Amino acid sequence: MKVTVIGGGPAGLYFSILYKKAWPQARITVYERNRPDDTFGFGVVFSDQTLETFQNYDLESYRSITENFAYWDDIEIRAKGTVHRIGGNGFCGCSRATLLKLLHQRAQQLGVELKFQTEITDIEGALRDADLVIGSDGINSRIRETYKDHFKPSVDLRPNRFTWMGSTKPLDAFTFYFKETKFGIIIVHSYQYEPGRSTWIFETDPETFAKLGLDPLDEPGSARLMEELFAEELQGHKLIINRSMWRNFPAIRCDRWVYENCVILGDAKATAHFSIGSGTKLAMEDAIGLYESFRKTGGQNVKAALTHYETTRREEVEKTQHSANVSLVWFEHVKRFWNMNPTRFVFGLMTRSKAITYDNLALRAPEFVDEVDHMMAEETKAAGFANVDTKTPVPPMFQPFRLRDMVIPNRVVVSPMCQYSAKDGMPNDWHLVHLGSRAIGGAGLVYAEMTDVSADARISPGCTGLWNGEQEAAWKRIVDFVHANSAAKICMQLGHAGRKGATKLSWEGDSEPLPEGAWPIISASPIPYFPNSQVPREMTRADMDRTVADFVAATERAHRAGFDMVELHAAHGYLLASFISPITNKRSDEYGGSLENRMRFPLEVFSAMRKVWPKEKPMSVRISATDWIDGGVTGDDAVKISEMFKAAGCDMIDVSTGQTDPDSAPVYGRMYQTPFSDQIRNEAHIATMAVGAVTTADQVNTIVAAGRADLVALARPHLMDPYFTLRAAGWYGAPNVYCPPQYLSGRDQLYRNAERDRADLTELKLKAKPKPQIDTWKQAAE
Ligand SMILES: Cc1cc2nc3c(=O)[nH]c(=O)nc-3n(C[C@H](O)[C@H](O)[C@H](O)COP(=O)(O)OP(=O)(O)OC[C@H]3O[C@@H](n4cnc5c(N)ncnc54)[C@H](O)[C@@H]3O)c2cc1C
Ligand SMILES: Cc1cc2nc3c(=O)[nH]c(=O)nc-3n(C[C@H](O)[C@H](O)[C@H](O)COP(=O)(O)O)c2cc1C
Repeated sequence: MKVTVIGGGPAGLYFSILYKKAWPQARITVYERNRPDDTFGFGVVFSDQTLETFQNYDLESYRSITENFAYWDDIEIRAKGTVHRIGGNGFCGCSRATLLKLLHQRAQQLGVELKFQTEITDIEGALRDADLVIGSDGINSRIRETYKDHFKPSVDLRPNRFTWMGSTKPLDAFTFYFKETKFGIIIVHSYQYEPGRSTWIFETDPETFAKLGLDPLDEPGSARLMEELFAEELQGHKLIINRSMWRNFPAIRCDRWVYENCVILGDAKATAHFSIGSGTKLAMEDAIGLYESFRKTGGQNVKAALTHYETTRREEVEKTQHSANVSLVWFEHVKRFWNMNPTRFVFGLMTRSKAITYDNLALRAPEFVDEVDHMMAEETKAAGFANVDTKTPVPPMFQPFRLRDMVIPNRVVVSPMCQYSAKDGMPNDWHLVHLGSRAIGGAGLVYAEMTDVSADARISPGCTGLWNGEQEAAWKRIVDFVHANSAAKICMQLGHAGRKGATKLSWEGDSEPLPEGAWPIISASPIPYFPNSQVPREMTRADMDRTVADFVAATERAHRAGFDMVELHAAHGYLLASFISPITNKRSDEYGGSLENRMRFPLEVFSAMRKVWPKEKPMSVRISATDWIDGGVTGDDAVKISEMFKAAGCDMIDVSTGQTDPDSAPVYGRMYQTPFSDQIRNEAHIATMAVGAVTTADQVNTIVAAGRADLVALARPHLMDPYFTLRAAGWYGAPNVYCPPQYLSGRDQLYRNAERDRADLTELKLKAKPKPQIDTWKQAAE
């Protein structure tokens, strides 16, 4: 087998080593345009876990790498005059130059031919001459460019500017500096990688960069300015430059990685932002992935191996890229979090990419999580809850929250969920048991399903309503039960289905039109939801007047039924959402066009409801914070929408997304809508409720403590587990969650078992944590 490797970076070299070791008869040549000792960059970092993988694949290179590594366990965060040190992070650093030298030696020892100062320009020729071509030619890959129509790369050039520099300043932890300068905030990601050498990546937003007045290419000039601004941190140490231009990070991905007998690896195929570790790790793991594909397909069958690689490796790479993207977005929005309490700021930083959570940190850095719990308790006390225990505080999700005069005993909410089980809009025993049992289960707030303001406002014939006295009485029975038997508050969600009305029960065909018995429907514009859906009538002013009156009457009924709170449903493509989104609102009058115009009718409805809803009771609005469609509502629009509702007297935004149109393309994942809640809460400065793929109490704690939402709603998890909150209270040993006396013995048993399970888990995790073995550099330095 003749293998040509274009690019002698970590990806190309490591693959050559692994392949040659397994199949020594292969003829492998690595072409590298640089000289062996040329290198850019400074240090590279690997986690304990990555090193363990290297150990399993090639003990020799693992040994030589680890002999040259610096090891640290802590992340230090210096921000806003505070220093936080968080343990349990297990990272190693080494110089990129040394890493490449060791990989050169190992490759040569195995018989890989290395040709330095040889630039491959004839890519087609390279493909013809070899059985296998490895495209490991880095971020500006010529191979990717040559076959771009096939690989289909996309490059998302991120707005922040960054540069890699080095320094002689010693550091004993991975250190983040967040420094407010007269130009703006500048962030440093820094770590030591060998005695007397550390990496310093400077990052800042485009406005600050413009104010710095730097010529991106003037490396010595920018190093001098950074030395001046970070004089206190550098403590007299100099910055070192080596191709240290200020650049924008390109987030690269490719639809395909394989072309004929050629495969792209490392930075050539996908980049991962430096804030979650080095691209070097991803590059070397790609090499391992490709080697594994050869191993599993017999070693010699190029086509089978490359196909296997492309299908098996993609998920892992996309997961890493997704985490990296979430992380880089946090750094791009650091200004959004700057005014937070420093403890919350640090907690937000640590948990930014979802891999680290509240529970996770509680095991690695219990004293920091203790600080977080205390911060939440102190804040809650300062918000008027005099009796909050600030000495031995409960986890964040169990702290109470106030909206106007309504006190919610904890941060867990049962999200509104249509049950499609009513007849003529009448809630019945199903609704009583469904909502009643979830209230007993300990959630702080329980939402009634989307309840319609008139018979022709319903989604389906099974939807509940609140347009007559009988329905009001039936709801009162449910509300009274909740109040009498639980500590939960109960919120009525009022809505109008608009163009998504007159459809089947969801389990018979979600949003599908009723074959018979359909009623006429209305919307902002006459656009059917599906091509086969009923075409709604464009609303006239008379329709608007009637709709406002219906919402007002239902709001008055909700008050008489005893609801603690009312929510206006302006999300998911229903009537009011159809006004807000430019995808569904094509009107040419004062209710269409600009966002202000599109908001006019929803605000009119909201203001009319607010007028009749008692001052002391809160109101919220559910919005779709993005349509997930090009040209639709975006997160930035959602901030403006929230500000408008806030000005009209809204107390909280219930932040959902999408469902505007069948063309919506949501990006699902754990807590996938929470970033929108985060943006709205911290930019529009209004309370928010996050919802969407939140499934654990750990996630609720993480979201609340990081200030990404004030309340967290769970829908589907509550369908299977009405007792979610009581169970969580048992697990964390939180004594302040109300349990009905009938169930106390069950709760006590839960507490006892949880205490034992938590102790076992801590012991297990501590045992599993690998011991830092790579401290030769540290010892030498000491
Ligand atoms: C300026 C800069 C500084 C960086 N500093 C660090 C750092 O300090 N720590 C860190 O972890 N990561 C750093 N990175 C990121 C890191 O280098 C990459 O993520 C990682 O090296 C990817 O490995 P790779 O093998 O895919 O590509 P690379 O390491 O980029 O290797 C690609 C190689 O291919 C060679 N090449 C390209 N085209 C040809 C051709 N046609 N013919 C022959 N040879 C060719 C290049 O010279 C290069 O050596 C830095 C990146 C940049 C751009
Ligand atoms: C069965 C079901 C019914 C729903 N009905 C409503 C509703 O009436 N009003 C509403 O705003 N959202 C409704 N939703 C959306 C949920 O409130 C929630 O936003 C969504 O399911 C995401 O949360 P989850 O991932 O926790 O399920 C419903 C969801 C489900 C699963």
